Amino acid sequence: MTRETRVAVEDLVYPLFVHGADRNEPVASMPGVERRTIADLVRECREARDLGIPAAAIFPVIDPSRKDARGTHALDAGNLLFCALGEVKSAVPDLVLIADVALDPYTDHGHDGVLTPDGRDVDNDATVEILCDLAVREAQAGADIVAPSDMMDGRVGAIRSALDAAGLGNTPIMAYAAKFASAYYGPFRDAVGSRRPEGAPPISKATYQLDPANLREALREVEQDEREGADMVMVKPAGPYLDVIRAVRERTDLPLAAYQVSGEYAQIHAAAAAGWLDYAPCRDESLLAIKRAGADMILTYFAREVAESLRSRVRGGAA
Ligand code: PBG
Repeated sequence: MTRETRVAVEDLVYPLFVHGADRNEPVASMPGVERRTIADLVRECREARDLGIPAAAIFPVIDPSRKDARGTHALDAGNLLFCALGEVKSAVPDLVLIADVALDPYTDHGHDGVLTPDGRDVDNDATVEILCDLAVREAQAGADIVAPSDMMDGRVGAIRSALDAAGLGNTPIMAYAAKFASAYYGPFRDAVGSRRPEGAPPISKATYQLDPANLREALREVEQDEREGADMVMVKPAGPYLDVIRAVRERTDLPLAAYQVSGEYAQIHAAAAAGWLDYAPCRDESLLAIKRAGADMILTYFAREVAESLRSRVRGGAA
């Protein structure tokens, strides 16, 4: 009765990986997470919807042979992501589909955009042009919300204009507004295959993602995305950035999402597997803390099992 914060199934967004192979494949660094076939993605989405999860975020795992320096496959008609969005949308129309807008699944260097001619940095404005095209095609393929995760400057406004010009004025933008250059994305990069090969130096996204030390800069990024027309904003990662979530909550009236990223998920699993942490209570506490900090919705790989556990608690209570 006196509880101030609750995590409800309606708060959850379920990130899912899809690949073009003919069977599912586990992601070693993310126990319980799989790269799914399109058919299995559709099945999982239907079950998620039946559990009451309102939305899924779909990430494609692109075959290395289709990657190049400019990520050209991102715009190819009928590519894996567009097919997956279309199939899920027609099979499970009432599940909100969120499509990531970034080039990292498609570039052979793993950056979120195309590089400058000297190859030393991402070319912000050239990338934004491609992302506009990608966002429009994603929405046409079946995405209900487009979510630029690339952190290029000016992309929210540009994507808004591109969507409007394409007659997609009702497609909202969930901006990855405060996305930090975090070391917690490692398992995700394994999952989508954007991590550098063994021995190669890891790429740095520090010229476009935020310095983990900077709260005020994060607030400026949120303000900029809001001014450019973002319909919701996101803080990412979530658990190590609860202060940022709280500060953003106090500054904006937009819906606020927080992304509990792959590394946050992996660390709870790893500690539990070693017998050092109690799995389910830690999982639930990690999400409760993100809600308490001020998030309205949480992207989490735990979404399905938390939805199941919430449902069994309700059932248990009613019995
Ligand atoms: C890239 C992207 C990343 C994640 C979502 N979109 C990784 C990155 O910036 O390299 C990470 C999500 C996670 O770690 O769970 N566009």
